[in-house]
Amino acid sequence: MSHHDQAMRRHFHQAAARRGFSVAPAQEAAVARLSRLAAELARPAWTFPRPPRDLYVWGPVGRGKSWLVDTFYEGLPAGRKRRLHFHDFFRRLHDGVTRPGARHDGQSAVDSALDELIGDSRVLVFDEFHAHDAGDAMLIARLFPTLLDRRITLVTTSNYPPAGLMPDPLYHHLFEPTIKLIEERMDVLDVSGPVDFRRLAAPPSEAGGRRFATGLCLPPGDSALEALGLGVPAPAEATTVPAHRRELPARAVRGELVWFAFDALCETTTAVPDYLALAERFDTLVLDGVPPLAEASTDGRQRFANLVDVACDRDVRLVLIGSDPLASLPDGQAQVRDLDRTASRLAMLRRAD
Ligand SMILES: Nc1ncnc2c1ncn2[C@@H]1O[C@H](COP(=O)(O)OP(=O)(O)OP(=O)(O)O)[C@@H](O)[C@H]1O
Ligand SMILES: [Mg+2]
Repeated sequence: MSHHDQAMRRHFHQAAARRGFSVAPAQEAAVARLSRLAAELARPAWTFPRPPRDLYVWGPVGRGKSWLVDTFYEGLPAGRKRRLHFHDFFRRLHDGVTRPGARHDGQSAVDSALDELIGDSRVLVFDEFHAHDAGDAMLIARLFPTLLDRRITLVTTSNYPPAGLMPDPLYHHLFEPTIKLIEERMDVLDVSGPVDFRRLAAPPSEAGGRRFATGLCLPPGDSALEALGLGVPAPAEATTVPAHRRELPARAVRGELVWFAFDALCETTTAVPDYLALAERFDTLVLDGVPPLAEASTDGRQRFANLVDVACDRDVRLVLIGSDPLASLPDGQAQVRDLDRTASRLAMLRRAD
């Protein structure tokens, strides 16, 4: 075992100890493989005919996938590494390909957008790979072969095994070539242990100082809201807030806090780039009028799930006022797989007792 391999293993164990846990049995293979990758990346690139093999780490929610790849990333030497969230990667790629003045001869527009995103990195960490709608799936299918052919090692996480990507039976076959490519070209690591660590998580005050973990989920009029300075906005506080290429109507902006009605954010045609823009500007997002999720529209539910994803990833504090979305999660239906992850994240928010 090389020096770099050992150093990365030690880094994993120390990072776990700092947060008060230890590497779980289901994570050990991933720790070993990521440590080996760190050693491979420590060799000069010219000593390789090809970059080290790509990794695909998958498992259900809360198994520590993001923790594993983030810890790996932190443990690598500075420079020549990139980490992008799936949504962000595609937002930037899409903007690059469709930007006015971008070359419109298809493949080369993709190539120059990728050049910009990858730069001279040797490793690209790409959290939460998934393909839920046909548009994303087609873009990934078009892009992925080019990405895999780059002299870069891809490390990605997903809630799905490769064969489970693009679950919609209508489009699944369009994604099969990409699945085949992933299975051939990437080392697939399953970290499906028995425990969703997020559900075991320490109370918010001890959850590693993450802002997201200080969020709340309360019924309207709860006395805690007033006590926290979250009084109902006056009509005069209503304003608009810039999002991605649009303005959104907010009930209030108070410093780093923005307050929306659920319908204004989730029941209109907003999308992930809007949530990312909000997350860049604000550190607290209040949503009132939150319905039981079973009563939201299918799109509304999906937008809410994406919003929770972005808030968790960008560490934005969420304050949900209304019904507890978790209390009424529909059971055993097709959409539960998506809501699983939302539920695991929302379980971190403090509720009224
Ligand atoms: N071995 C472990 N023991 C206890 N807690 C852990 C362990 N590994 C990770 N965690 C913690 O569990 C929580 C969830 O981990 P993480 O966010 O990495 O899950 P995930 O697999 O990425 O979930 P998702 O699929 O929802 O993105 C984090 O707070 C993380 O620090
Ligand atoms: Mg994750």
